[in-house]
Amino acid sequence: MIDSKPVIAANWKMYKTPQEGYQFARQLATKALNLKGVKFILAPSATAIFHLAEVLKDTPIEMAGQNMHFAEEGAFTGETSASMLQASGCTWVIIGHSERRHVFGESDDFIRQKVAAALQAGLNVIMCIGERLEDREAHRTQGVLQQQLRDGLEGLDEYPAERLVIAYEPVWAIGTGVVASPQQAGDAHGQVRAILNQRFPGLADADVKILYGGSVKSANAAELISTPGIDGFLIGGASLDVNEYCSIAEIAQNEVQVTN
Ligand code: 13P
Repeated sequence: MIDSKPVIAANWKMYKTPQEGYQFARQLATKALNLKGVKFILAPSATAIFHLAEVLKDTPIEMAGQNMHFAEEGAFTGETSASMLQASGCTWVIIGHSERRHVFGESDDFIRQKVAAALQAGLNVIMCIGERLEDREAHRTQGVLQQQLRDGLEGLDEYPAERLVIAYEPVWAIGTGVVASPQQAGDAHGQVRAILNQRFPGLADADVKILYGGSVKSANAAELISTPGIDGFLIGGASLDVNEYCSIAEIAQNEVQVTN
């Protein structure tokens, strides 16, 4: 469960050994004492989750898996189930990240099955959506967001809205250093909110947070977080450095306090 604090989520992707993650988590646990105005979620690689849980268990910092399979168990080499993530200390899972969609070929239907299985198992979900550059240039952004939301969440609106977070991550902004402008991000977040309200009345309130992801760093965090409709960040590269990650959190904390 999350409250009205901005969510500052770190997606470490395939970076950091368990030892490196452990060091980061120890430093973050200390620094987070002064950053109570934000909600931290860390998504380490699968091999580091259990190790980090020991550091984070008495802190408000939560952990997310970066992916999962929808089956409870079975002959699925290389996969991790919802209950395995939970037993290792995760309360969240990221599903449908653009790298899962575009590097590993995951379909909207596959993603929907995972979102359903995660919610059913009791994990909270960060579902990622976002258009590719060619979609944006062809003015298809809204259509892509609509399809990814519709297909990814079909039949799932009976779950409490606060168990779902949407991360809007335009593919062209991920890892490129090209960040969406506040106007572009704000427009897309407005579209996501409108689609959710229209298609999923069960989810139709501000409890579904919408995060922005794609080249977020301390230099651009203030203008993004103060854009209406942006409820936090899903951060890749800049989340690997604990000082930079905490700088972003501090900026979010200060900006949201100022605008509240
Ligand atoms: P970067 O912050 O490295 O652009 O990555 C964003 C992302 O994919 C987070 O899930």
